[in-house]
Amino acid sequence: MIDSKTPLSQLHGGEVEWAVSQRFNIPIEKIISFASTVSPVVPESIRDSSLFFDRLHLYPPNDYSQLKQEIIKYQRVEHDVAVVVGCGSTELIHLFAQLMGRGEVIIPVPTYGEYEAAVNKIGGTPVFVKAQDDFALNSAAIKRSISKRTKAIMICNPNNPTGRLFDRSDIDELVELVDRTGLMLLVDEAYSCFASQNRRYSVGNLVRSHNLIVLNSISKLFGVPSLRLGWALASGETAKIIEKARIPWMVNNLAVWGGEKLLLDTNYQNEITSLIASQKKELVSALQEKSWLSVFPSETNFLLVKILEPDITATQLFQHLARKGIVIRDCTFMRGLGDHFFRITIRTQAQNRMLISELDKMKVPSSPSIITNC
Ligand SMILES: Cc1ncc(COP(=O)(O)O)c(C=O)c1O
Repeated sequence: MIDSKTPLSQLHGGEVEWAVSQRFNIPIEKIISFASTVSPVVPESIRDSSLFFDRLHLYPPNDYSQLKQEIIKYQRVEHDVAVVVGCGSTELIHLFAQLMGRGEVIIPVPTYGEYEAAVNKIGGTPVFVKAQDDFALNSAAIKRSISKRTKAIMICNPNNPTGRLFDRSDIDELVELVDRTGLMLLVDEAYSCFASQNRRYSVGNLVRSHNLIVLNSISKLFGVPSLRLGWALASGETAKIIEKARIPWMVNNLAVWGGEKLLLDTNYQNEITSLIASQKKELVSALQEKSWLSVFPSETNFLLVKILEPDITATQLFQHLARKGIVIRDCTFMRGLGDHFFRITIRTQAQNRMLISELDKMKVPSSPSIITNC
């Protein structure tokens, strides 16, 4: 049960659907979630799970060797890149923070809140570096934030919740910086699969010879966060250290079975990425027609939107939609954003249109005194 006093706007994207279902008494199946950043269609290739049931009496293979081979192929990295699997990439974010210990970890914001939570949990100190106005990485400020206590830098590329893909040259610069200063860099690429073809890249191969680990997950692209499967790409040496800290069998047989099937399902991968690209185009143009909203460019499957009308907050919009079973991500409490930002995930055409039609019904003052600063 989610504490009934916690404001819904403070909940994680993955929790908020359950909370809306409870508070507004709407069955969970009826909730349309634009808050959780996952694909809207579950792949047919895992609908028949009867094969999985034959494995229920078994513990998972704790070296996960077959699954790791599929991950290597899916990631198109060299065979000497080591893989550590986790119960979602969330487990690996927490393991990384745990291994960094109680020093400082630099986190460019706005970004995914779990990095901060993981660092705080082990008694470390998150050091936040504000992005530039267009949400580009502020490399100079990151460099200036390094102190004697700094252990690591954690970034998300493309970034959640901004949708911004950092330039490859910025990432290379960070890799060079951590090598020179003896820090570790974590690059979370959970959304890289959604970047446009000409901008889609991974730094997975660099893990072999740099102080770098790269994270990815099946939750987003395949729309299956319930399975809980993520992984880290690392050098052999770093992987050994993470493996030692890992609790055995955290990745269960359903995740292994589903992961192996999904990573091979290239038809689904192609279909879903093109569906999302076309739906993103349609949704962006519909949102751009609303003078009270401003949409940020996105290389992911979600859009960050700013409400330009001072008298409408993201929380008000959230409440208005939640009563109808439509859930958006209110970004009021996201570090580096504020009460006029919300995030929506691209869903099917019918669902996106339903959202637009609800936005059309919002009572917006006829001549808004538009907010212009970020
Ligand atoms: C950037 C980012 N990384 C990791 C995760 C967690 O994903 P997983 O389901 O693999 O634990 C999320 C979930 O929202 C995310 O946005």
